[in-house]
Amino acid sequence: MKAVVEVNVYKQKGRISPYIYGQYFEHLEDCIYPSVMDSLSPNSNEVGLRQDVIEAAKELSVPIIRWPGGCFADFYHWEDGIGPKEERPVRRNWHWGGLESNQFGTDEFLKWCEAVGADPYINFNLGTGTLDEALRWMDYCIGTEETTDVLRRKANGREAPYHVKHWGVGNETWGFWEAGQMDALTYSQKIRNWVEFIKKYQADSSILAVGSNGGLDPEWDAEVLKQAGTFIDYLTIHNYGFSVDRESGDEYYSVVFSPTYFKKQIEQMISTIEDYEKTLSSDHYVKISMDEWNIRHFIEDENGRYHLNRKSPRNIQDAIFAAGILNTMIQLSPRVGMANYVFLVNGNGVMNVNEEGVVKTPLYYVFQQYGRWMNGVSLETSIDSPTRIAPTPQLIDPYYKREYTEEVVSYIDTAASLNDDGSIVISIINRHQDEEIDIELVIPNGLQPTEIWTLNHHDIYAANDFDNPENILPTIEKIEEKITSWKCPAHSLVLIKCEQE
Ligand code: AHR
Repeated sequence: MKAVVEVNVYKQKGRISPYIYGQYFEHLEDCIYPSVMDSLSPNSNEVGLRQDVIEAAKELSVPIIRWPGGCFADFYHWEDGIGPKEERPVRRNWHWGGLESNQFGTDEFLKWCEAVGADPYINFNLGTGTLDEALRWMDYCIGTEETTDVLRRKANGREAPYHVKHWGVGNETWGFWEAGQMDALTYSQKIRNWVEFIKKYQADSSILAVGSNGGLDPEWDAEVLKQAGTFIDYLTIHNYGFSVDRESGDEYYSVVFSPTYFKKQIEQMISTIEDYEKTLSSDHYVKISMDEWNIRHFIEDENGRYHLNRKSPRNIQDAIFAAGILNTMIQLSPRVGMANYVFLVNGNGVMNVNEEGVVKTPLYYVFQQYGRWMNGVSLETSIDSPTRIAPTPQLIDPYYKREYTEEVVSYIDTAASLNDDGSIVISIINRHQDEEIDIELVIPNGLQPTEIWTLNHHDIYAANDFDNPENILPTIEKIEEKITSWKCPAHSLVLIKCEQE
C-alpha cells in the first residue's frame, strides 16, 4: 500500500496551544487516593503528595490540569479541603460513592501544580455551591488583601498568592446526572451573572463555560453564546468515544477511527461559534476547550448490559486513538485552545499507579512527544491514502442518543507543526491494522527528515503494566541520508522532524 503526504508551509492555520496536551484530576475511585495523595506511602513528600507521580508528571511537562471534577465538582465545598489535615471533615462522595477524606484540597492541588510546572484550572461548584463561595475560593487562592480567607491561606502556610487564572463555571449542566442541571437559558443567565463578579475581581481571568453534550446541540451552544458569549473565553465540549467487543478484536477500527466523529462534532461547534462571532461588533474570539475526552471501553455482561471498564490499561490501539485526537486538535488550531484527557492517573489514565510505583502507558509517550515536537504553528497537510468505511460509534450509552452517518476514512492521518526553531514536524498515523504503508513525503524545498520517532508494537492490545512496565517504548532514529519516502508500520504513530539541509 502507498500514500502521499504533502505539507503546505504557506497554509498556516494558527498557533497550536500547548494546553491541548492538558490533563485532568477528579475525586473518583482511585484517581486521587492513594495515587496522587497518600500520606502513608514511602513515595510521598512531606505534604503527602506522591513524589514519584510528581516526577513523572514533570517529565511529561503537563501544561495544564483541571480539578476537582467533573461531576464531583458540583458537590465540592472548598473549605472542607483546607487547614490542618486531621481537622478536615470526611464527607460522602455523593456522586461517585465512597468517602471523601478531603486530604487533597486546594493547597495540595496548587502545590502539586507548582511542583510539576502545570497551570491550574479550577472548576467551580455551580451545582450545590454559591457565587459567594466561588468568589471566596478565588480570594483564598489569589487574594492579596487581608481578608479572612487570605489570612486563612497564610495561616495554612502559604503567604504568597497562587497563580490561578482558569476557572470553569459548571459541568455538563445539560445532564440529569448533574447536581447543577438546568436548561440553556437558565445556565446562560447564571454564568453571565457569575462572570460579572469573577471578572470584577480578576479582570484577566479565563472563563470556561459549558457547551453542549458532545457539541451535538447547536441550540444549547447558540443560547450560551448569545446570552454570555462576550463574558467567556472558552466554550467546552466533552467527548467520549465508545467501544465494546474488546475480546473478539472487532473493536479496532471503531477505536482508531473515532477521531473522525470527534472532528465532526468539534467542527459543528466551531460553526456555531463562527455564526455567533459574525453578530459581534468586537473581535472577541471564543476558543473551544475539550475539557474531558477519552474513549470508553465497555464490557457486556450476561444480561446484555454494558459496564464501563475503568481498569483496562491503555494499549497501542488506545494510543493511536489518542494521537488521532491530538492531530484533530492541531488541525483545528487555533480554535481548539485547550483539552483535558480523562484522567492523568489511573481510571484508563496516562499513568497507572500502585503502592509501589508508576507505570507509564503508551499514551504517556504520545503526550510527551507531541508536547515536545508539535508546539508551533499548525500547517495544512494533504493526504492521498487508501481508505476504509469507519464503523459508526457503537451506541451503547442510553444517554447519548446520537445519529451518525457512515464516513469513508483514510488509513493515514496527519498533522504538521512549523516550530519556532524552523523545523517542521509531521505526525503520521497508519491506522491500518495489518499493513505497512509506503509514505511518499512532499515537504518544502530545503528541508530534510533528520529524526524519526516511532510508537509501535506488533500486538494492538500490548500495554505496559506493573510486571512489564517497559513493554512498549518509543524509538527514535537519526536520519543521516536524504530520504523522500518512509515505510510506516501497521497500527503505528510516527513523528518525522524535518530540518534545513
Ligand atoms: O468520567 C468522568 C466523568 O464523566 C465526569 O465527572 C463527568 O463530567 C463526565 O460525564
